Amino acid sequence: MRKKVKELLQSAPGEQVLAKGWVRTKRGNRQVKFIALNDGSTINNIQVVVNTENFDEELLKRVTTGASIAVWGNLVQSLGSGQAVEIQATKLEVIGECDPMRFPLQKKDTSLEYLRTVAHMRLRTNTFGAVLRIRHAMAFAIHKFFNDKGFVYLHTPLITESDAEGAGDMFQVTTLDLTNVPLHNGKVDFSKDFFGKKTSLTVSGQLEGELGATAVGEIYTFGPTFRAENSNTPRHLAEFWMIEPEMAFYDINDDMALAEEFVKYLVQYAIDNCADDIKFLNDKYDSTLIERLNSVLGIDFQKVTYTEAVEILEKAIADGVKFEYPVHWGTDFQSEHERYLVEKHFRKPVILIDFPKDIKAFYMKQNEDGKTVRGMDVLFPKIGEIIGGSEREASLEKLEKRIEELGMSRKNLEWYIDTRRFGTVPHSGFGLGFERLLLFITGMSNIRDVIPFPRTPKNAEF
Ligand code: 4AD
Ligand code: MG
Repeated sequence: MRKKVKELLQSAPGEQVLAKGWVRTKRGNRQVKFIALNDGSTINNIQVVVNTENFDEELLKRVTTGASIAVWGNLVQSLGSGQAVEIQATKLEVIGECDPMRFPLQKKDTSLEYLRTVAHMRLRTNTFGAVLRIRHAMAFAIHKFFNDKGFVYLHTPLITESDAEGAGDMFQVTTLDLTNVPLHNGKVDFSKDFFGKKTSLTVSGQLEGELGATAVGEIYTFGPTFRAENSNTPRHLAEFWMIEPEMAFYDINDDMALAEEFVKYLVQYAIDNCADDIKFLNDKYDSTLIERLNSVLGIDFQKVTYTEAVEILEKAIADGVKFEYPVHWGTDFQSEHERYLVEKHFRKPVILIDFPKDIKAFYMKQNEDGKTVRGMDVLFPKIGEIIGGSEREASLEKLEKRIEELGMSRKNLEWYIDTRRFGTVPHSGFGLGFERLLLFITGMSNIRDVIPFPRTPKNAEF
């Protein structure tokens, strides 16, 4: 029976074992070869010791980096440092050869930039093995967190006719023949399209999430999200995953408390369950990773209003701090501003609240001052915004007025407005960018390196 490498490394010596995996390296001399074997179950390899006199020379030649092999042998105590046990091979089979001349990971260049060009193969590297296992653990922990609290996982549609965030950067979905588009009065006739109207890929599941929350109380979504914003930054993807909890009877303070508890839970889960992978990434890429993960746990996040934050930034500028983008009341912060607040000023995660209404979406609850809305952004070291959320406008009258002010089409929103028409309740929610979370947990600095197959402007390969 085959045992996975992770299990083998925890087994006591003395067993007859079978291992299967891919060869990471082969070294040694004429008498003895050492094969480092990995099957993806752990960052660690199992060492296979081969006495060459018992094996066919031609067979051993085919054991090259990247080849898949099966090894039978005795699990023995290892004399070498670095591992407790190793396999003394008695039989070996090459399952799939790997031509060293052509194997893309054989190259000297192992930079993350190079690996992105071979994203179909980079999953086989230690780095991406670690990232994938952490990604899985975080997805699992997210479901566990909400399940334990009695939230319902709500599946919201990916194809939609509404622009939830009002930002307008959506990918259109159509089956129309683009070389021969049907026209009506000079405009595209979407009644001929698949859905009989103009549709796009969703930028957020929130609006449907609110329908769920105002029915079963507390829901969360966890799914792909699409944004056609042409921003080529280390923090933006055109296709990313978002987690959006939405809770009836929560005000903004309940919302912030849940967001803080949630991210702390996830960081703790990663520390407890992904120690080997995190240590590997800490040692290889970012020696302050473990420290930074621990640093967000024991403290309360700093709450600060947008207006106070503007004052802090204006003072910093007066004191000689240089930013690329200007700051004044009414502008959206850039990540340089967010990171200044978190890393330099407060030196801990920050929850920004009470934003100017004009830089936030139509659904946010309006404050008494008539200028600001009850939004909240959670800002993290090295990342900037990791969560965006708000209390929602529960008043039918105020919501309708805001929709009108913004010149939005009501036609596509009547179903949403019904939540306020029939048994409206105060409610709140937020969205966590899954890859932003993973940037924080893995310490990777480019969002393209925490998703298996990144989608960014001009890049949809693999
Ligand atoms: O702040 P955003 O736009 O908020 C919403 O979409 C709300 N509907 C959420 C809600 O209240 N239910 O996006 C939420 C989070 C951001 O804080 C960020 O972490 C992530 O989604 N995000 C992106 N991640 C990767 N690439 C992009 N292009 C992203 N845009 C947003
Ligand atoms: Mg946001």
